[in-house]
Amino acid sequence: MELRTVTAGYFSPTDTTKKTVEAIARGIRPVINILDLTPPAAREAEYHFGPEDLLVIGAPVYGGRIPLVEEEAIRHIHGSCTPVVLAAVYGNRAYEDALLELRDLLSCQGFIPVAAGAFIGEHSFGNVIAAGRPDTQDLAKCTDFGRQIAFWLKDATVGDFSLKVPGNYPYRARGAQSGIPHEISGDCIFCLHCAEVCPTGAISTKSPAIKDMSRCIKCQACAKKCPKGARIVPGGFVETMVEKLSAMCGEGRKEPQLFLGR
Ligand SMILES: Cc1cc2nc3c(=O)[nH]c(=O)nc-3n(C[C@H](O)[C@H](O)[C@H](O)COP(=O)(O)O)c2cc1C
Repeated sequence: MELRTVTAGYFSPTDTTKKTVEAIARGIRPVINILDLTPPAAREAEYHFGPEDLLVIGAPVYGGRIPLVEEEAIRHIHGSCTPVVLAAVYGNRAYEDALLELRDLLSCQGFIPVAAGAFIGEHSFGNVIAAGRPDTQDLAKCTDFGRQIAFWLKDATVGDFSLKVPGNYPYRARGAQSGIPHEISGDCIFCLHCAEVCPTGAISTKSPAIKDMSRCIKCQACAKKCPKGARIVPGGFVETMVEKLSAMCGEGRKEPQLFLGR
């Protein structure tokens, strides 16, 4: 299979999916295109890929699924027997049906899934669970995986691939949509970076304190990317979540799981 282009596509509020997907794509080919579906406007356009393009698409895992906003965005991406590599990035607990959902969704959009992986990223809630991941070791594995994919694709046609990934039907039910309230501390310098990085436009561009809770998807981009650490989740929500989730994550370092459809 001769490739014309390689594109790294992702929805990635706190950048762990972005780093993972870009490392895989750069392993396939050093020069890549970027399709960043995180800003709201990017999710409104239609995108088309041909049989000689390759898409590496990644999603963070939210409740064992891919985020609803990314599912909606992927419905605007059209393939034509286009090979696709899938990446689910999860916060060290579990990825459940996220890879299966990605595979099914991309297949419906005209893509041929050729490989997939589940990777670990620092959990969105706090900076304790899987802190600093993907780290150098993870990114080296992503790049190696990309190199392997390039090698496998060389003498293959898309008809050679039938990718199996873990997951169950019906997919896990999505949790009720509810946001996380934030308090703004005295350290806030009103730079409005929080509004800029919010992937759903939930924060007012006039004041960081004004937030549309019906739009908040709990991604924590606003809090994690605040240059002053001035967005505080009150009531010990993050600490309680970290305690609960840490108990569910198990002991020891989890490693990426890789799947090839050949
Ligand atoms: C609303 C929400 C739900 C999440 N659900 C899960 C989950 O089910 N399993 C898990 O291991 N991590 C879960 N995470 C953690 C993210 O999958 C993880 O931190 C990921 O690396 C974030 O990707 P990003 O940096 O691209 O935003 C969740 C995070 C959020 C915000």
